[in-house]
Amino acid sequence: MSKPDKLVVGNWKMNGRRDMAVALSSAVAGQLPSGMEAAVCVPFPFLGLVGEAVAASALALGAQDVSDQEEGAFTGEVSAGMLSEFGCRFVIVGHSERRARQAETSVLVAEKAARARAAGLTPIVCVGETRDERESGQTLSVIEAQLAPVLALGGEAVGSMVIAYEPVWAIGTGLSASVEQAVEVHQAIRAAVAGLIGDRAGDVRILYGGSVKPETAAELFSAPDIDGGLIGGASLKAEDFLAICQAAV
Ligand code: PGA
Repeated sequence: MSKPDKLVVGNWKMNGRRDMAVALSSAVAGQLPSGMEAAVCVPFPFLGLVGEAVAASALALGAQDVSDQEEGAFTGEVSAGMLSEFGCRFVIVGHSERRARQAETSVLVAEKAARARAAGLTPIVCVGETRDERESGQTLSVIEAQLAPVLALGGEAVGSMVIAYEPVWAIGTGLSASVEQAVEVHQAIRAAVAGLIGDRAGDVRILYGGSVKPETAAELFSAPDIDGGLIGGASLKAEDFLAICQAAV
């Protein structure tokens, strides 16, 4: 069975202005290598503009969050149906910045993932331990607890998701996990998914995120069970993001 192409996803977070959004997404879309898949998850107000800029290219569009509710009186929230209508293929759910700042629970994250799927989007479910949790030997149990409500959505749902392992201590710090640290967690995630869907777990892409740079991408992406990356800071520079995409070919 052939492995799926690697996937590299840019997470712009709350960065940029309209001009930058169009210039950056156009530059990436115009030079994307073949033999891999890439997406950019942009702030909500840029979805229309960036969607137009990448429409004729292989660069996919994504968002950084979605409501767990379908529609209605939920001030400030954005529905999966809206994202889908704006051309999104992907949506990040459960990023550690939202788990920390908005107190998102793993149950809510799973509900968001289910809502995204129902609208035809591919959720990118983020999990990851803090520095304290790693140092006290809890990494794998934390990941397992974060994944539990997602796995409870069932095999069909999990088989069509992307999972991103992002150690909180590695995000935006310049301190990437070592390949060994990442592989250990990726293998645990793969095993958990395999417990649900057997061999088809090989088709679920498990991304690594946390200070991925052009210099570190190739080594990470060639390691077993690392199927691509979720890229924050380095996705804000076309040259760096493209170099990371190249490393995924
Ligand atoms: P970083 O962010 O690449 O800037 O560490 C990754 C992320 O938060 O998705």
